[in-house]
Amino acid sequence: MNILVTGGAGYIGSHTLVELYAAGHTAVVVDNLSNSSQESLRRVETIVGANIPFVQLDVADRTALAAVFAEHKFDAAIHFAGLKAVGESVAKPLAYYRNNIDSTLALVELMLENSVNNLVFSSSATVYGDPAELPLTEQSRVGVGITNPYGQTKFMIEQILRDVCVANPQFSATLLRYFNPVGAHPSGTIGEDPGGLPNNLLPYVTQVAIGKLDSVKVFGNDYDTVDGTGVRDYIHVVDLARGHIAALGHMQPGAQAYNLATGTGTSVLELIAAVEQAASKNIPYEVVARRPGDVAACYASPALANTELSWRADLTIQQACVDSWRWQSQNPHGYENH
Ligand code: NAD
Ligand code: UD1
Repeated sequence: MNILVTGGAGYIGSHTLVELYAAGHTAVVVDNLSNSSQESLRRVETIVGANIPFVQLDVADRTALAAVFAEHKFDAAIHFAGLKAVGESVAKPLAYYRNNIDSTLALVELMLENSVNNLVFSSSATVYGDPAELPLTEQSRVGVGITNPYGQTKFMIEQILRDVCVANPQFSATLLRYFNPVGAHPSGTIGEDPGGLPNNLLPYVTQVAIGKLDSVKVFGNDYDTVDGTGVRDYIHVVDLARGHIAALGHMQPGAQAYNLATGTGTSVLELIAAVEQAASKNIPYEVVARRPGDVAACYASPALANTELSWRADLTIQQACVDSWRWQSQNPHGYENH
């Protein structure tokens, strides 16, 4: 299949490109590089041994995107493009609603106009808000207790795509609800490159390990969890990427959500210990106040994706830490200077 990949220069998009080519697909990437570097695409091209067409554009720019549809024939689109920083979304809600929703509307309009009827969308565990039950399943309550505009955009876009599927019975929307993506490609050449201070735990921990940051701030140790720290379902980005290939193989008309998760929760202290082992370094940390908006524990059953998509997460959290550390230590400044 030939796949339109929006946001393909980013963290999850770049890893998914590698798996797309490994599975025999081809891709055209569109990205405005607002949170990424074209260097990631050059490195993907080296890994896959092929040239990947790239157009720098804003997905919300209908004219520019229409030209890409005019030039290429697509079997499906994977829509990664979006802004994703939770704290920033609280400070700049309009930028988040404008970017994430406009880009999705423009993409889906052009897909329909060009009879491209298969969409895989990057949703998030955030749609479950404050989990009503654990492990979460696709039947669990969504939309209650979402604490930030970023999360609201994911919830709203899921609803928009469901409505599009009702009105267009030929259209297929697979809503992949990612849990916490971590790790990097085993080559160590591509990985997560957060600009500035990392918001997410694992990049923060590896930056402490490499000496860029002094110590990990553990956001609370008084939760009702195994050791009092927050518990999450960390999933290796290569497993996550493969979930998209599995989804492309099972596109059916209608909207369907899948949890891409491992089913296992890991605490903050357990994750720090796993990075200590991977990096053979002691990682200093200090416990600070809870982060507003955080939940105690969040993990999901991947049973539906296991059975319907024939997909499962195979890589361990330890492997993810080894791979993240390889990426971080070989690229201390990420893609900078390229
Ligand atoms: P990322 O920021 O690395 O990648 C997103 C890419 O989209 C970037 O390259 C950015 O430049 C591009 N982009 C943003 N807005 C655009 C626009 N209007 N037009 C064109 N390009 C645009 O993020 P990621 O971690 O790879 O996440 C990919 C998707 O998965 C996002 O939609 C994100 O919300 C979602 N997601 C991520 C996580 C996570 O923890 N990383 C968890 C759940 C869901
Ligand atoms: C956050 C977002 C979520 C988003 C997800 C993946 C919030 C409220 N939620 O989830 O919407 O989908 O990222 O991008 O921001 N932690 C520390 N110290 C740190 C960083 C994190 O102790 O410096 C803890 C957190 O309290 C949490 C765990 O580590 O218990 C994971 O945090 P993080 O990586 O930010 O992911 P989430 O909070 O799950």
